[in-house]
Amino acid sequence: MRKHRFILILLAGCLFLFAGCTPTRERPEETGESGNRLLLGFAQIGSESSWRIGNTRSVQEAAEQHGIQLMMSDANQKQENEIRAIRQFIAYQVDVIAFVPIVEEGWENVLLEARNAGIPVILSDRQISGTIDESLYTTYVGADFYAEGKKAGEFLLKKAEQSEKETLHIVELLGTPGSTPALQRERGFHDVIAGDSRFEMLEAVSGDFLRSKGKESMEKLLEKWGSEIDVLYSHNDGMTLGAIDAIESAGLRPGKDIVIITVDGEQAAVDLLKEGKINCVVECTPMLGDLIMELTEKLAAGEEVPRVIHPEETMFTEYDDLDGIPSRGY
Ligand code: AHR
Repeated sequence: MRKHRFILILLAGCLFLFAGCTPTRERPEETGESGNRLLLGFAQIGSESSWRIGNTRSVQEAAEQHGIQLMMSDANQKQENEIRAIRQFIAYQVDVIAFVPIVEEGWENVLLEARNAGIPVILSDRQISGTIDESLYTTYVGADFYAEGKKAGEFLLKKAEQSEKETLHIVELLGTPGSTPALQRERGFHDVIAGDSRFEMLEAVSGDFLRSKGKESMEKLLEKWGSEIDVLYSHNDGMTLGAIDAIESAGLRPGKDIVIITVDGEQAAVDLLKEGKINCVVECTPMLGDLIMELTEKLAAGEEVPRVIHPEETMFTEYDDLDGIPSRGY
Protein backbone atom coordinates (compact mmCIF):
# COMPACT_ATOMS: atom_id res chain seq x y z
CA MET A 1 0.00 0.00 0.00
CA ARG A 2 2.80 2.39 1.05
CA LYS A 3 4.78 1.43 -2.07
CA HIS A 4 1.67 2.08 -4.19
CA ARG A 5 1.22 5.55 -2.66
CA PHE A 6 4.92 6.35 -3.17
CA ILE A 7 4.61 5.56 -6.89
CA LEU A 8 1.48 7.72 -7.12
CA ILE A 9 3.26 10.61 -5.42
CA LEU A 10 6.19 10.31 -7.83
CA LEU A 11 3.85 10.22 -10.80
CA ALA A 12 1.77 13.17 -9.61
CA GLY A 13 4.92 15.17 -8.91
CA CYS A 14 5.98 14.72 -12.55
CA LEU A 15 2.51 15.66 -13.80
CA PHE A 16 2.49 18.84 -11.70
CA LEU A 17 5.84 19.88 -13.12
CA PHE A 18 4.29 19.88 -16.56
CA ALA A 19 0.95 21.44 -15.60
CA GLY A 20 2.11 24.50 -13.64
CA CYS A 21 0.77 23.21 -10.32
CA THR A 22 2.78 24.31 -7.31
CA PRO A 23 2.85 22.02 -4.33
CA THR A 24 3.96 24.62 -1.77
CA ARG A 25 5.15 21.90 0.62
CA GLU A 26 6.02 18.21 0.41
CA ARG A 27 3.94 15.48 1.97
CA PRO A 28 5.19 14.63 5.50
CA GLU A 29 6.13 11.09 4.50
CA GLU A 30 8.43 12.58 1.85
CA THR A 31 10.16 15.02 4.17
CA GLY A 32 10.27 12.85 7.25
CA GLU A 33 8.30 15.47 9.24
CA SER A 34 6.37 14.02 12.12
CA GLY A 35 2.59 14.18 12.23
CA ASN A 36 0.16 13.89 9.36
CA ARG A 37 -0.76 17.33 8.06
CA LEU A 38 -3.82 17.69 5.87
CA LEU A 39 -3.25 18.10 2.15
CA LEU A 40 -5.58 20.45 0.24
CA GLY A 41 -5.60 20.57 -3.56
CA PHE A 42 -6.76 24.03 -4.68
CA ALA A 43 -7.47 24.75 -8.37
CA GLN A 44 -7.40 28.51 -8.99
CA ILE A 45 -8.61 29.94 -12.30
CA GLY A 46 -5.76 32.39 -12.91
CA SER A 47 -4.88 35.97 -12.08
CA GLU A 48 -7.29 38.01 -14.20
CA SER A 49 -7.80 40.75 -11.58
CA SER A 50 -6.37 42.23 -8.38
CA TRP A 51 -9.35 40.58 -6.69
CA ARG A 52 -8.16 37.18 -7.89
CA ILE A 53 -4.58 37.85 -6.80
CA GLY A 54 -5.91 38.80 -3.35
CA ASN A 55 -7.96 35.61 -3.30
CA THR A 56 -4.92 33.44 -4.07
CA ARG A 57 -2.88 35.20 -1.40
CA SER A 58 -5.67 34.73 1.14
CA VAL A 59 -5.73 30.96 0.49
CA GLN A 60 -1.93 30.65 0.70
CA GLU A 61 -1.66 32.64 3.93
CA ALA A 62 -4.55 30.80 5.59
CA ALA A 63 -3.07 27.40 4.67
CA GLU A 64 0.19 28.46 6.29
CA GLN A 65 -1.61 29.63 9.44
CA HIS A 66 -3.68 26.46 9.72
CA GLY A 67 -0.69 24.19 9.08
CA ILE A 68 -2.39 22.72 6.01
CA GLN A 69 -0.26 21.61 3.07
CA LEU A 70 -1.43 23.32 -0.09
CA MET A 71 -1.12 22.05 -3.61
CA MET A 72 -2.18 24.97 -5.78
CA SER A 73 -2.69 25.11 -9.52
CA ASP A 74 -3.19 28.11 -11.82
CA ALA A 75 -5.45 27.29 -14.79
CA ASN A 76 -4.54 30.39 -16.76
CA GLN A 77 -8.26 31.08 -17.37
CA LYS A 78 -8.87 27.69 -19.04
CA GLN A 79 -11.46 25.23 -17.80
CA GLU A 80 -9.57 22.26 -19.27
CA ASN A 81 -6.50 23.17 -17.18
CA GLU A 82 -8.62 23.24 -14.04
CA ILE A 83 -10.09 19.83 -14.84
CA ARG A 84 -6.59 18.45 -15.43
CA ALA A 85 -5.43 19.86 -12.08
CA ILE A 86 -8.37 18.30 -10.24
CA ARG A 87 -7.53 14.93 -11.81
CA GLN A 88 -3.98 15.34 -10.55
CA PHE A 89 -5.25 16.09 -7.05
CA ILE A 90 -7.25 12.87 -7.21
CA ALA A 91 -4.20 10.88 -8.40
CA TYR A 92 -2.23 12.44 -5.56
CA GLN A 93 -4.87 11.31 -3.05
CA VAL A 94 -5.25 14.73 -1.42
CA ASP A 95 -7.52 14.90 1.63
CA VAL A 96 -9.80 17.64 0.28
CA ILE A 97 -10.21 19.38 -3.09
CA ALA A 98 -11.26 23.04 -3.43
CA PHE A 99 -11.67 24.75 -6.76
CA VAL A 100 -13.03 27.92 -8.37
CA PRO A 101 -15.31 26.89 -11.25
CA ILE A 102 -14.45 29.38 -13.99
CA VAL A 103 -17.87 28.77 -15.57
CA GLU A 104 -20.88 26.96 -14.16
CA GLU A 105 -21.17 24.06 -16.60
CA GLY A 106 -19.01 21.08 -17.54
CA TRP A 107 -17.80 19.64 -14.21
CA GLU A 108 -19.86 16.43 -13.90
CA ASN A 109 -17.25 13.89 -15.01
CA VAL A 110 -14.34 15.12 -12.96
CA LEU A 111 -16.51 15.56 -9.86
CA LEU A 112 -17.77 12.01 -10.27
CA GLU A 113 -14.15 10.88 -10.28
CA ALA A 114 -13.49 12.82 -7.05
CA ARG A 115 -16.57 11.29 -5.42
CA ASN A 116 -15.53 7.78 -6.49
CA ALA A 117 -12.12 8.44 -4.93
CA GLY A 118 -13.88 9.49 -1.69
CA ILE A 119 -12.44 13.03 -1.72
CA PRO A 120 -14.75 15.82 -0.48
CA VAL A 121 -15.03 18.88 -2.74
CA ILE A 122 -15.41 22.55 -1.77
CA LEU A 123 -16.61 25.03 -4.39
CA SER A 124 -14.78 28.27 -3.76
CA ASP A 125 -15.99 31.69 -4.98
CA ARG A 126 -18.07 30.43 -7.93
CA GLN A 127 -20.77 27.81 -8.32
CA ILE A 128 -21.71 25.07 -10.77
CA SER A 129 -24.99 24.26 -12.49
CA GLY A 130 -26.45 22.22 -15.29
CA THR A 131 -27.66 18.67 -14.83
CA ILE A 132 -25.51 18.39 -11.77
CA ASP A 133 -25.98 15.75 -9.10
CA GLU A 134 -25.95 17.84 -5.91
CA SER A 135 -23.97 15.19 -4.07
CA LEU A 136 -20.96 15.78 -6.33
CA TYR A 137 -19.72 18.55 -4.06
CA THR A 138 -20.08 19.14 -0.34
CA THR A 139 -20.20 22.87 0.17
CA TYR A 140 -19.95 26.29 -1.47
CA VAL A 141 -18.07 29.18 0.12
CA GLY A 142 -18.26 32.54 -1.57
CA ALA A 143 -20.30 35.64 -2.25
CA ASP A 144 -24.01 35.97 -2.82
CA PHE A 145 -23.64 37.44 -6.31
CA TYR A 146 -27.38 37.91 -6.77
CA ALA A 147 -27.46 40.10 -3.65
CA GLU A 148 -24.51 42.09 -5.06
CA GLY A 149 -26.43 42.75 -8.28
CA LYS A 150 -29.46 43.85 -6.25
CA LYS A 151 -27.34 46.28 -4.22
CA ALA A 152 -26.09 47.82 -7.47
CA GLY A 153 -29.68 48.23 -8.69
CA GLU A 154 -30.82 49.70 -5.38
CA PHE A 155 -28.05 52.31 -5.52
CA LEU A 156 -29.24 53.29 -9.00
CA LEU A 157 -32.82 53.73 -7.75
CA LYS A 158 -31.54 56.15 -5.12
CA LYS A 159 -29.36 57.98 -7.62
CA ALA A 160 -32.29 58.32 -10.05
CA GLU A 161 -34.34 60.04 -7.34
CA GLN A 162 -31.88 62.92 -7.47
CA SER A 163 -31.48 63.08 -11.22
CA GLU A 164 -33.09 65.79 -13.31
CA LYS A 165 -33.13 63.51 -16.35
CA GLU A 166 -36.35 61.77 -17.17
CA THR A 167 -34.61 58.68 -18.56
CA LEU A 168 -31.28 57.22 -17.58
CA HIS A 169 -29.54 55.25 -20.33
CA ILE A 170 -27.49 52.32 -19.06
CA VAL A 171 -24.57 50.32 -20.45
CA GLU A 172 -23.37 47.17 -18.69
CA LEU A 173 -19.96 45.49 -18.71
CA LEU A 174 -20.55 41.81 -18.07
CA GLY A 175 -18.06 39.37 -16.52
CA THR A 176 -16.95 36.06 -18.02
CA PRO A 177 -19.92 34.53 -19.92
CA GLY A 178 -21.37 31.51 -18.11
CA SER A 179 -19.70 32.34 -14.77
CA THR A 180 -21.75 32.67 -11.59
CA PRO A 181 -20.79 36.30 -10.82
CA ALA A 182 -21.66 37.42 -14.36
CA LEU A 183 -24.99 35.58 -14.41
CA GLN A 184 -26.09 36.56 -10.91
CA ARG A 185 -24.85 40.14 -10.87
CA GLU A 186 -26.75 40.71 -14.09
CA ARG A 187 -29.93 39.07 -12.82
CA GLY A 188 -29.91 40.83 -9.42
CA PHE A 189 -29.45 44.26 -10.99
CA HIS A 190 -32.16 43.82 -13.62
CA ASP A 191 -34.63 42.35 -11.13
CA VAL A 192 -34.42 45.61 -9.18
CA ILE A 193 -34.72 48.08 -12.07
CA ALA A 194 -37.09 46.04 -14.28
CA GLY A 195 -40.36 47.72 -15.10
CA ASP A 196 -39.15 51.16 -13.99
CA SER A 197 -39.65 53.49 -16.94
CA ARG A 198 -36.84 55.81 -15.79
CA PHE A 199 -34.28 53.27 -16.99
CA GLU A 200 -33.39 52.23 -20.50
CA MET A 201 -30.74 49.64 -21.32
CA LEU A 202 -28.60 50.66 -24.29
CA GLU A 203 -26.28 47.65 -24.46
CA ALA A 204 -24.56 44.95 -22.39
CA VAL A 205 -21.20 43.54 -23.51
CA SER A 206 -18.65 41.21 -21.94
CA GLY A 207 -15.30 42.47 -20.68
CA ASP A 208 -14.40 39.02 -19.27
CA PHE A 209 -13.45 40.54 -15.88
CA LEU A 210 -10.29 41.96 -17.51
CA ARG A 211 -9.14 45.59 -17.30
CA SER A 212 -7.90 45.53 -20.92
CA LYS A 213 -11.22 44.19 -22.24
CA GLY A 214 -13.17 46.60 -20.05
CA LYS A 215 -11.35 49.49 -21.71
CA GLU A 216 -11.77 48.04 -25.19
CA SER A 217 -15.50 47.37 -24.70
CA MET A 218 -16.13 50.80 -23.21
CA GLU A 219 -14.35 52.46 -26.15
CA LYS A 220 -16.73 50.67 -28.51
CA LEU A 221 -19.75 51.61 -26.42
CA LEU A 222 -18.65 55.25 -26.41
CA GLU A 223 -18.10 55.21 -30.16
CA LYS A 224 -21.62 53.91 -30.64
CA TRP A 225 -23.59 55.74 -27.96
CA GLY A 226 -21.35 58.70 -27.04
CA SER A 227 -22.82 61.13 -24.52
CA GLU A 228 -26.15 59.28 -24.55
CA ILE A 229 -24.65 57.00 -21.88
CA ASP A 230 -25.78 58.09 -18.40
CA VAL A 231 -24.86 55.03 -16.33
CA LEU A 232 -22.19 52.33 -16.45
CA TYR A 233 -22.83 49.19 -14.40
CA SER A 234 -19.66 47.09 -14.44
CA HIS A 235 -19.40 43.58 -12.98
CA ASN A 236 -15.91 44.11 -11.56
CA ASP A 237 -13.41 46.79 -10.62
CA GLY A 238 -10.81 45.65 -13.12
CA MET A 239 -13.14 46.32 -16.07
CA THR A 240 -14.28 49.56 -14.41
CA LEU A 241 -10.73 50.89 -14.19
CA GLY A 242 -10.26 50.16 -17.91
CA ALA A 243 -13.62 51.77 -18.71
CA ILE A 244 -12.68 54.90 -16.75
CA ASP A 245 -9.54 55.24 -18.90
CA ALA A 246 -11.76 55.06 -21.99
CA ILE A 247 -14.28 57.58 -20.61
CA GLU A 248 -11.58 60.10 -19.74
CA SER A 249 -9.92 59.67 -23.15
CA ALA A 250 -13.30 60.45 -24.71
CA GLY A 251 -13.34 63.76 -22.81
CA LEU A 252 -16.12 62.75 -20.41
CA ARG A 253 -16.05 62.88 -16.60
CA PRO A 254 -16.50 59.50 -14.86
CA GLY A 255 -18.76 59.79 -11.83
CA LYS A 256 -20.32 63.01 -13.17
CA ASP A 257 -21.20 62.74 -16.87
CA ILE A 258 -21.54 58.98 -16.41
CA VAL A 259 -22.66 57.43 -13.11
CA ILE A 260 -20.38 54.50 -12.34
CA ILE A 261 -21.43 51.46 -10.33
CA THR A 262 -18.86 48.70 -9.83
CA VAL A 263 -18.39 45.48 -7.86
CA ASP A 264 -15.43 44.10 -5.82
CA GLY A 265 -14.03 46.83 -3.59
CA GLU A 266 -10.39 46.84 -4.66
CA GLN A 267 -8.32 49.61 -3.09
CA ALA A 268 -8.01 51.33 -6.49
CA ALA A 269 -11.81 51.49 -6.86
CA VAL A 270 -12.36 52.78 -3.34
CA ASP A 271 -9.74 55.48 -4.00
CA LEU A 272 -11.62 56.53 -7.16
CA LEU A 273 -14.88 56.56 -5.20
CA LYS A 274 -13.24 59.02 -2.79
CA GLU A 275 -12.10 61.11 -5.79
CA GLY A 276 -15.68 61.21 -7.12
CA LYS A 277 -14.90 59.20 -10.27
CA ILE A 278 -16.94 56.20 -9.10
CA ASN A 279 -20.34 56.56 -7.43
CA CYS A 280 -20.89 53.15 -5.90
CA VAL A 281 -18.68 50.16 -5.04
CA VAL A 282 -20.46 46.93 -4.08
CA GLU A 283 -18.15 44.82 -1.97
CA CYS A 284 -17.21 41.26 -2.89
CA THR A 285 -14.52 39.92 -0.60
CA PRO A 286 -11.73 37.67 -1.92
CA MET A 287 -10.62 36.88 1.65
CA LEU A 288 -12.00 33.34 1.70
CA GLY A 289 -8.83 31.56 2.86
CA ASP A 290 -9.75 31.10 6.53
CA LEU A 291 -13.22 29.78 5.76
CA ILE A 292 -11.77 27.31 3.24
CA MET A 293 -9.21 26.00 5.73
CA GLU A 294 -11.84 25.63 8.47
CA LEU A 295 -14.00 23.65 6.06
CA THR A 296 -11.02 21.52 5.03
CA GLU A 297 -10.33 20.60 8.65
CA LYS A 298 -13.97 19.72 9.31
CA LEU A 299 -14.41 17.69 6.14
CA ALA A 300 -11.21 15.74 6.76
CA ALA A 301 -12.50 14.97 10.27
CA GLY A 302 -15.76 13.68 8.78
CA GLU A 303 -17.81 16.51 10.32
CA GLU A 304 -20.95 18.02 8.82
CA VAL A 305 -20.55 21.46 7.25
CA PRO A 306 -23.14 23.96 5.97
CA ARG A 307 -24.10 23.58 2.33
CA VAL A 308 -23.57 27.29 1.60
CA ILE A 309 -21.42 29.89 3.36
CA HIS A 310 -21.57 33.56 2.33
CA PRO A 311 -19.07 35.94 3.93
CA GLU A 312 -20.47 39.24 5.19
CA GLU A 313 -20.27 41.97 2.55
CA THR A 314 -21.21 45.62 2.37
CA MET A 315 -21.22 48.47 -0.13
CA PHE A 316 -19.58 51.89 -0.28
CA THR A 317 -21.29 54.81 -1.98
CA GLU A 318 -20.88 58.53 -2.54
CA TYR A 319 -23.58 59.06 0.11
CA ASP A 320 -21.46 57.46 2.86
CA ASP A 321 -18.72 58.80 5.09
CA LEU A 322 -15.73 57.33 3.26
CA ASP A 323 -13.01 58.33 5.70
CA GLY A 324 -13.35 55.31 7.93
CA ILE A 325 -12.89 52.62 5.24
CA PRO A 326 -9.96 50.48 6.34
CA SER A 327 -7.25 49.57 3.84
CA ARG A 328 -8.72 46.95 1.51
CA GLY A 329 -5.73 44.64 1.17
CA TYR A 330 -6.41 43.85 -2.49
O1 AHR B 1 -15.63 35.48 -9.03
C1 AHR B 1 -15.37 36.72 -8.49
C2 AHR B 1 -15.00 37.68 -9.57
O2 AHR B 1 -13.90 37.17 -10.30
C3 AHR B 1 -14.54 39.05 -9.10
O3 AHR B 1 -15.56 39.98 -9.07
C4 AHR B 1 -13.62 39.42 -10.21
O4 AHR B 1 -12.82 40.53 -9.96
C5 AHR B 1 -12.92 38.16 -10.46
O5 AHR B 1 -12.29 38.11 -11.65
